[in-house]
Amino acid sequence: MAEGSAVGTLDTEKISQAALEHQWIHSASYIELSERKGLKVFARGEGARLYDIYGTEYLDGISGLWVVNAGHGRDEIGQAMAEQAKKLAYVSAANYTTVPTVQLAETISDLLPGDMDRLFFVSGGSEAVETAIKIAKQVQSMRGFPKRYKIIARRGSYHGMTYGAMSLTSMRNETYFGPFMPGVYHIPSPNNYRPQFPGLSGEADDIACANALEAEIEFQGPDTVAAFIGEPISTANGVQIPSPAYWKRIREICDKHGVLLICDEVINGWGRSGTYFATEHFDIVPDMITMAKGLSSGYAPIAAVAVHPNVFAGFREQDVALGHLLTFGGHAVACAAALKNIEIFKREGLVEQSRQKGEYLLAQLNELRSHPTVGDVRGLGLMTGVEIVKNKDTKEKFGREHQFTKRLSELVNERGLLTRIWDILHVAPPFVITTDEIDRIVQIADESLTIAEGEFASDIA
Ligand SMILES: Cc1ncc(COP(=O)(O)O)c(C=O)c1O
Repeated sequence: MAEGSAVGTLDTEKISQAALEHQWIHSASYIELSERKGLKVFARGEGARLYDIYGTEYLDGISGLWVVNAGHGRDEIGQAMAEQAKKLAYVSAANYTTVPTVQLAETISDLLPGDMDRLFFVSGGSEAVETAIKIAKQVQSMRGFPKRYKIIARRGSYHGMTYGAMSLTSMRNETYFGPFMPGVYHIPSPNNYRPQFPGLSGEADDIACANALEAEIEFQGPDTVAAFIGEPISTANGVQIPSPAYWKRIREICDKHGVLLICDEVINGWGRSGTYFATEHFDIVPDMITMAKGLSSGYAPIAAVAVHPNVFAGFREQDVALGHLLTFGGHAVACAAALKNIEIFKREGLVEQSRQKGEYLLAQLNELRSHPTVGDVRGLGLMTGVEIVKNKDTKEKFGREHQFTKRLSELVNERGLLTRIWDILHVAPPFVITTDEIDRIVQIADESLTIAEGEFASDIA
């Protein structure tokens, strides 16, 4: 037993070993965990800090994975969950609901853009995306278009790992998991650092990306397309913030062709970009919003699809249910966690904190531009990214598998910062982060870049 262990009398060595022997960690190779990086077992969290079973402190620079918006260690969320569990944990989602589930639907409805006002609850982001796809297909069929089954997504997108959601994800792994759900097509995604159309940049390039949707709908045949899906600000493409004209044009095209617009706010939502929903920055109202992660700040697995009254109209008027049921949808304890989380958001002005602290963080990160490997810095609210390149002139990337990228990850980790570095060094901490903690994150990134750049000098242009 390690002295001063963060888990009291627990045998820390034994638990680390048991983790390697019995748990299948989602996205890491066994050899990476057992031989190279080691598997961290966490025991405790507070605000923007995490502590592993040995008591080592880390700064959570990415809120888990853009999840823990309200910060770690919120006692009152735990208490709300315990109280609900003692009263009632579960009734069937098929035909019944519970008090916190209803209250949560009403609370979220008041915060949604425009007149969106109905929630279908599920347990995670992928399930929310699966649900949105099925709603779109059934709505189109009920409107008299049974052949509208195609979904258009964007290149570079990520929408989850269950089958349908993975099929929309453009970085899907064909070798292991193909063939995918039929009828999915990908169009260019706005990227101000790497414009998608020759000779264009900024808003003109964004509009060309939007027009690509119309071209694709016309090519596929409008009477075959059910929906278009995209993150308002693409995290998967490295925190890409399009001009408002992009989403206005997308909304127009969807309306013109009877295509439903799904905004995937699994990361963007719940204050991450400095507004409750990122859709608000672009002044559009989608037909559906998928949300997860920050909805409960990770205290319970809960997610949802919010729909516009137009989407629910057919279900309201016809004697038909959605052909869908997920046993844990609207789970009472998860809803109690989300309700308390939203209460904290309002009481502490967390969305405004994300906006203001995001401005400060971005200003500090911009100082990193003097590094030879920092190609771009961008962000909105506490959703920021530093794009790492080999060559600033050509914008050539190192890529996720390059030793430079791996070394940089190791260096920030050794200095106590947890984040994800592939092509982008993401900085998206909990909204309760302090100015000193933000400064420390930037200092760690700065130091680590300097060391890695020194070690790999011959690889850098
Ligand atoms: C935009 C987006 N959609 C969907 C998902 C899938 O969510 P989950 O991992 O909760 O299934 C993610 C996960 O990161 C996401 O970023």
